[in-house]
Amino acid sequence: MATDVIIALDFPGESETMAFLDLFRDEKPYVKIGMELFYAMGAQAVREIKRRGHKVFLDLKLHDIPNTVCSAMAVLSKMDVDMTNLHAAGGSKMMEAAIEGLTRADGTRPLLIAVTQLTSTSPETLRGDLLIEKPMAEVVSHYAKIAKNSGLDGVVCSPLEAADVKAACGKEFVTVTPGVRFAGGDAGDQSRVTTPARARELGSDYIVMGRPITRADDPVLAYRRACAEFLGK
Ligand code: C5P
Repeated sequence: MATDVIIALDFPGESETMAFLDLFRDEKPYVKIGMELFYAMGAQAVREIKRRGHKVFLDLKLHDIPNTVCSAMAVLSKMDVDMTNLHAAGGSKMMEAAIEGLTRADGTRPLLIAVTQLTSTSPETLRGDLLIEKPMAEVVSHYAKIAKNSGLDGVVCSPLEAADVKAACGKEFVTVTPGVRFAGGDAGDQSRVTTPARARELGSDYIVMGRPITRADDPVLAYRRACAEFLGK
């Protein structure tokens, strides 16, 4: 099973992003392109970052009617991304349609993973805003099972839920976990957080780290620290 540290490139545009990537001379980190950068640069963001030799997780979190998601995924499948995602809350029909759209004529496709509950969602938000009465762990595991049955490869969840997801869906089912902070770091707007080392112990396959690396005084050192703690190297 592949495992890696993914840096969230949450930058407003091309110059900031490329200046950040230029800091890395000895390594080519796996990176995540989210809504901010994709809406600023479009498909050029993927082309340029792939050209530089990085693996790309395109984090656009699709959530719409099945037909629209199928067509949108067909467009994304033409970009050479390694992983992309959608919201499991769209339901199994939407997820099946996404797989259909993403699969290329030769049968290949990027990894497709489902967001269960955002790592910024607290148990209070789940109950008070979303009117979901079940405990967070049960909601996440249930969404993960639906994603698996719809043919997806894994889920985005908090590291705190990775073990439950593996127990519900098997250890080959991929867990991608944002909400990771260095010990003593600022949680920011994230709610369900833990450290890289603990994320590994809990069964995360990939950790996603944004601000603790992008806003560090020395981002390369922060990335190396994340790799050392998470991958043990
Ligand atoms: O800066 P920080 O480490 O909090 O960045 C986390 C990244 O992971 C952000 O780009 C955010 O959009 C993304 N993400 C998340 N929770 C999810 C899915 C994606 O925080 N459930």
